[in-house]
Amino acid sequence: MRTQVGIIGAGPAGLLLSHLLHLRGISSVVLEKRSRDHVERRVRAGVLEQGTVDTLVEAGVGERLLREGLPHHGIELRYDGAGHRIPFEKLVPGRRITVYGQQEVVKDLIAARLAAGGDVRFEVEDVALHGLETERPYLTFGGERLDCDVIAGCDGFHGVSRPSIPEGVLSVYEREYPFAWLGILARVAPSSEELIYTRTERGFALHSMRTPEVSRFYLQVPAGERVEEWPDERIWAELKARLESVPGFALATGEIMEKGVTPMRAFVAEPMQYGRLYLAGDAAHIVPPTGAKGLNLAVADVRVLTRALAAYFEHGSAGLLDGYSRACLRRVWRAQHFSWWMTTLLHTFEDDDAYARRLQLSYLDYVTSSEAAATTLAENYVGMP
Ligand code: PHB
Repeated sequence: MRTQVGIIGAGPAGLLLSHLLHLRGISSVVLEKRSRDHVERRVRAGVLEQGTVDTLVEAGVGERLLREGLPHHGIELRYDGAGHRIPFEKLVPGRRITVYGQQEVVKDLIAARLAAGGDVRFEVEDVALHGLETERPYLTFGGERLDCDVIAGCDGFHGVSRPSIPEGVLSVYEREYPFAWLGILARVAPSSEELIYTRTERGFALHSMRTPEVSRFYLQVPAGERVEEWPDERIWAELKARLESVPGFALATGEIMEKGVTPMRAFVAEPMQYGRLYLAGDAAHIVPPTGAKGLNLAVADVRVLTRALAAYFEHGSAGLLDGYSRACLRRVWRAQHFSWWMTTLLHTFEDDDAYARRLQLSYLDYVTSSEAAATTLAENYVGMP
């Protein structure tokens, strides 16, 4: 078997790359370890930057997103007994975010790939990468061989792509946070029209949503926490204790449909390429979810990679491919900083003393009262151009 681009991973990065390449007449095969059902059900974040929405719409996979996605023009920061709105329409006119679950993006992309006759293989075993330093790299899996011109590693943080790069090539920058997020999906109408990021002495909480009937919530919990320690009643009690920290706000509760714990980690591997292998999305970098940047960064990588591959296959020019990592990393590091900043601003850190907590509150006060500071948050949140 032979294709131009062998893509490992059928998450948003791999599927979108395959589809954008198809629109440019470039062939690809997507290999995914998990089942279609698994990747379509995997609950992840759900905030899309305008640039992400534009890319999906231009790729012809935005129809349901435009119909069902919820446009938002602000978020609320809640702390010290009061809520403060960050108004995007005033601070970054014309720019907004859209709330639409990542697994909905994945469903739309799989449907589009299959409708266009795309080759997406699920439950593929033992994928291995070979000949990355040669002009003829290839993939092996389940007894088969796929010859490629280029390989795209879109298989996430735990995938095989990044570890296939020889020792000593990559520089790794990382940070583990001493807490995690317990996330739930609940069958209940959101209690707020906009997302609420809450800082309390009990820890951080986030009220998000998916549809007018389904809400999404997160609670800061200690690292390594097990879901079993959180029966439904405990989750609702803790969400109420943190989110009902302003007078007059009552949290509506409902059936919990899904529960999971997300570790909080930051990670960057540089460069995002080696020989004929190009890494995109979580395979190359992870952000803590506080800034909702993960999916948006993956889409941005894929946009850059598509342009570079098109220049290579259409004109034989490798300049953009050579500069792929450099072109991506500027945005990656901006998102790293923003995610670290949002995380630090809103979570409780065990080692923090009273002085550190006063600094945190002072900064929150600054962000919610100074237009300059609020604009810093807003322009990063909606996504840098
Ligand atoms: C989500 O809805 O899953 C979500 C929203 C905002 C975040 C993170 C996750 O910052």
